[in-house]
Amino acid sequence: MKRIFGFLIGLLVLGFMHAAATQAESAPPQPPRQSNGLALTPPMGWNTWNKFGCEISEATIHQAVDAMISSGMKDAGYEYIVIDDCWQSGRDAKGQIVADPKRFPSGMRALGNYIHSQGLKFGIYSDAGKLTCGKRPGSLGHEYQDARTYASWGVDYLKYDWCSTYSQDAKSTYETMSDALRASGRPIVFSICEWGLNKPWLWGETIGNLWRTTDDIYDHWQGKHGYEHGVMDILDLQVGLAGRAGPGHWNDPDMLEVGNGKMTLEEYKSHFSLWAVLAAPLMAGNDLAAMTPEIKAILTNKEVIAIDQDPLGVEASRVAKHGDYEVWARPLKGGGRAVVLLNRSTASHTITASWDDLQLPSSLSLKVHDLWAHKDLPGAKGSFSAEVPSHGVVMVRLE
Ligand code: GAL
Repeated sequence: MKRIFGFLIGLLVLGFMHAAATQAESAPPQPPRQSNGLALTPPMGWNTWNKFGCEISEATIHQAVDAMISSGMKDAGYEYIVIDDCWQSGRDAKGQIVADPKRFPSGMRALGNYIHSQGLKFGIYSDAGKLTCGKRPGSLGHEYQDARTYASWGVDYLKYDWCSTYSQDAKSTYETMSDALRASGRPIVFSICEWGLNKPWLWGETIGNLWRTTDDIYDHWQGKHGYEHGVMDILDLQVGLAGRAGPGHWNDPDMLEVGNGKMTLEEYKSHFSLWAVLAAPLMAGNDLAAMTPEIKAILTNKEVIAIDQDPLGVEASRVAKHGDYEVWARPLKGGGRAVVLLNRSTASHTITASWDDLQLPSSLSLKVHDLWAHKDLPGAKGSFSAEVPSHGVVMVRLE
């Protein structure tokens, strides 16, 4: 009897185990992560880092906000005012992140209010590790707390850096902050800044809205300096990535250096045109309160900005390269094409974009509009050619 009883209990236990195992096997799969629905065109704004580094304060931000409006940048579409590294001074007893009280005496909520009162949006910076690159507290272990804090300050954009992350897994690390931002209840654009180390274009689409594809830019046409890359070096690293970008998820070749003083106007025009054709986020990085009319004219060229912001959201590819002469092109909503002829050499040169390169029938006659001269050029059939200055571009819209 005892034996039979034991046998029956055994059967029951086995049955339970089997049921549990079947249930685990057939547990419904997690629904795939969805995009947050933000940044349907590449974000535009201004960021403190390229010009001011750690030398920032609430006065720097107020000046930038005011200049953004008086310069016409806001009218041209720039929206986010992003405070990069070094605004933080520590954490309080509850682990709450604290803004540097000397540099930001009015606090971040007040700063956010000011930015919003001027019709702009508020961006902030943190890091996925224990420390930011500027050795301030990062968000590791405080992701949900920080996201809630940012939301309570009215933050609209978070740039999330990759210093002191050691063996952390990039995808799951960025997923954690992405989830924390969503849980905060506030729509916050999420800028993944892990320098392209772990190929974020392969996994970032539903986690963030933009991802850096390279190490840092610096105000230089060509050449590397430690982890800093010139504009041409960054450009070369974008080849092959175009298919990864689209509305809500952009390749980020880093912020603009236009107006920071170490390149020529021609080179700044090229830098800006290339970033626009690449559908790159347009984050100005110069001193807006002190820019010359020439720099302002570059940053506010609405015809070039319209290419960057084209709703189709297809990034340009390099469709031809003959030594120093290149053609970059992207399709536009409505069937047109944006084309940049780039001359990397030290002398001016005639560069041709053939319809073949653009995957258009060669019999097609197209209207040509010059986006820097702001005028229509003679129509073209089969190809378009132009004399391009050294380190310069000719940028046209073909319809
Ligand atoms: C770098 C980042 C820069 C800037 C800097 C701040 O890692 O690429 O854009 O944010 O950190 O320390």
